[in-house]
Amino acid sequence: MRIAVLRETAAGETRVALTPETARKFIALGAAVAVESGAGLAASIADAAYAEAGAEVASAAKAVKGADIVLGVQAPDPAALVGANPGTWVAATFDPFGNPGRVDAYAKAGLEALAMELMPRITRAQSMDVLSSQSNLAGYKAVIAAADTYGRAFPMMMTAAGTVQAARVFVMGVGVAGLQAIATARRLGAQVSATDVRSATKEQIASLGAKPVFVETVAGIEGEGSGGYATEMSEEYQQAQAELVSGHIAKQDIVITTALIPGRAAPRLVSDAQIASMKPGSVIYDLAVAQGGNVEGSVADRVIERHGVKIVGYANTPATLAADASALFARNLFNFLSAFWDKDAGKPVLDEEIGDAIRLTRDGSIVHPRLHA
Ligand code: NAI
Repeated sequence: MRIAVLRETAAGETRVALTPETARKFIALGAAVAVESGAGLAASIADAAYAEAGAEVASAAKAVKGADIVLGVQAPDPAALVGANPGTWVAATFDPFGNPGRVDAYAKAGLEALAMELMPRITRAQSMDVLSSQSNLAGYKAVIAAADTYGRAFPMMMTAAGTVQAARVFVMGVGVAGLQAIATARRLGAQVSATDVRSATKEQIASLGAKPVFVETVAGIEGEGSGGYATEMSEEYQQAQAELVSGHIAKQDIVITTALIPGRAAPRLVSDAQIASMKPGSVIYDLAVAQGGNVEGSVADRVIERHGVKIVGYANTPATLAADASALFARNLFNFLSAFWDKDAGKPVLDEEIGDAIRLTRDGSIVHPRLHA
């Protein structure tokens, strides 16, 4: 059983899918591990650290030769996997709905694509969930970056020269990223409020010491929705939400938006008119920018200014915390493969619940039910 890891090639990708810690653990399971030279550099991991952990450090072609499993943060181009064994598993993120061409190419190459972002939201898979581990870091970093861009302080300060007012932070979308954004802004001393369409988040917001701001006239999503996710809301709800937000947003200094709907474009939550109502010097961080953005006019990887408000939108926020993001991503992959490790077979054997949820391609075909129209 040979596990290979390549240097990520997507623009701006600094993370790596294997750390010396997880290399050691895979080797302890009986696997051989090969890493492309330089794969960890952008995440502050030197080749020597992998070699010390027992991994082979080699050229890409050599690392991949004879591989049974390839790990990636973003799925590599199948052309880079020539020389791997027939039916090699590739465990990585695939963006299967946004990038169907890559799924086709994987099927044609006879590779077995395992899309880590489709991991079911069930208790036993929590430690394998890359969306959670990366969103948590993104929520933290959004607040830190917004604080850095803001021309004022976050906490209230009473000084001999006078009082500095606490910043008002509004978090829109309270999933994994939003909860961490609330906690981080609170730690920095801001006055925090937050909103979501899932009513279960009201209590979570309050328990972090923030104020829930919710549409009360139209029902939101009760319970855990579809697998804990939000769905697209009715026009009536969207109208009520826009009115509620308009009244609130004008008084905010920082807005962090994190709202996503799986498999669809991100919902538009902040309009240009609402941006115009904010005070000059306010900052908006749009964590959904790569999925189309929650904020009108936000641009990926740019800080733009509209009506005196700075709008920040990095497409890959976890990549700005490469070392921690890699450590958690690599552990998610190890937790996944080791949970299914069959000692007798000397390789992982997936069960149906998780295997069928994440497997996109097998034996030359696209096999995922959501990819068949
Ligand atoms: P997400 O990244 O898909 O979306 C972020 C947030 O945006 C969600 O809370 C969503 O309700 C909200 N949202 C969507 N449309 C909105 C709108 N129009 N206005 C305001 N907010 C809107 O969500 P994430 O972070 O993936 O979490 C979703 C749920 O899954 C949570 O309940 C989380 O606790 C749960 N979860 C469960 C796991 C497990 O059991 N293994 C692992 C991770 C998350």
